[in-house]
Amino acid sequence: MDFKENHIKSNRKTIMRYLYLMTVFFLTLTGFGNMPIFKRYYIADIPGLGWLAEYYVTLYIHYLFAILLIGIISYLIIEYLLTKRKSIKITLSGYIRGSVVAGLLITGILLVIRNHEVSGFAPGFIIFLYLCHLTLVMVLLMAGLHSVIFKKKWYFEVKQ
Ligand code: HEM
Repeated sequence: MDFKENHIKSNRKTIMRYLYLMTVFFLTLTGFGNMPIFKRYYIADIPGLGWLAEYYVTLYIHYLFAILLIGIISYLIIEYLLTKRKSIKITLSGYIRGSVVAGLLITGILLVIRNHEVSGFAPGFIIFLYLCHLTLVMVLLMAGLHSVIFKKKWYFEVKQ
C-alpha cells in the first residue's frame, strides 16, 4: 500500500472516530436533558444552555443523533463484512462495547415506538425499557472510561 492510500485510510479512521464520539456525546447530553436533570440542577440557566431544558428540543436532537448513530454503525458493519473480516480482529472490549451499543439501539428504537400512542406496550414493559436504556448508557460510559484509562482498543490489525 503506498503513502497516499495509507493517508486516506487513516484520515477516514479519524473522521469515523470523531463522528462516533460526537454522536455518543450528544446522545448522552440530550438523553439526560430528557430526564430532565439540567433544569433541576440549574445548568440550563447558564446562558446558551437554555435549550437543554426544552423536552421536545432535546428529544428531537436525540432522534437526529440516533439516526446518525445507526448510519455510522451500518457503515462500519458493512465495511467490516466486505473488506476487513480478515485484516482486523475485534477485541473483548470491542465485543462488549459493540453489544452495549446494539442494546442501546434496540431499546432506543422500542422507546421511539412507545412514544407513539398506538404502541400498546404494557406499562411494566415501558419501565423495563427505560431502565435497560439507562443502565446500558451507564455501562457504555463506564466501559469507555475503562478503555481510555487502560488503553483498550475496539480491534487490532492482523499482520498478513
Ligand atoms: C449511545 C447511545 C445512546 C445514549 C447514550 C442514550 C441516552 C439516553 C438517555 C440518558 C435517556 C434518558 C433515559 C430516561 O429518561 O430514563 C434516553 C432516552 C431515550 N432514548 Fe436514548 N440514548 C442512546 C441511543 C438511542 C437510540 C439509538 C435511540 C433511538 C433509535 C434512542 C431513543 C431514545 C428515546 C426514544 C428515549 C426516551 C425519550 C423520552 O420519551 O423521554 N436512544 N437516551
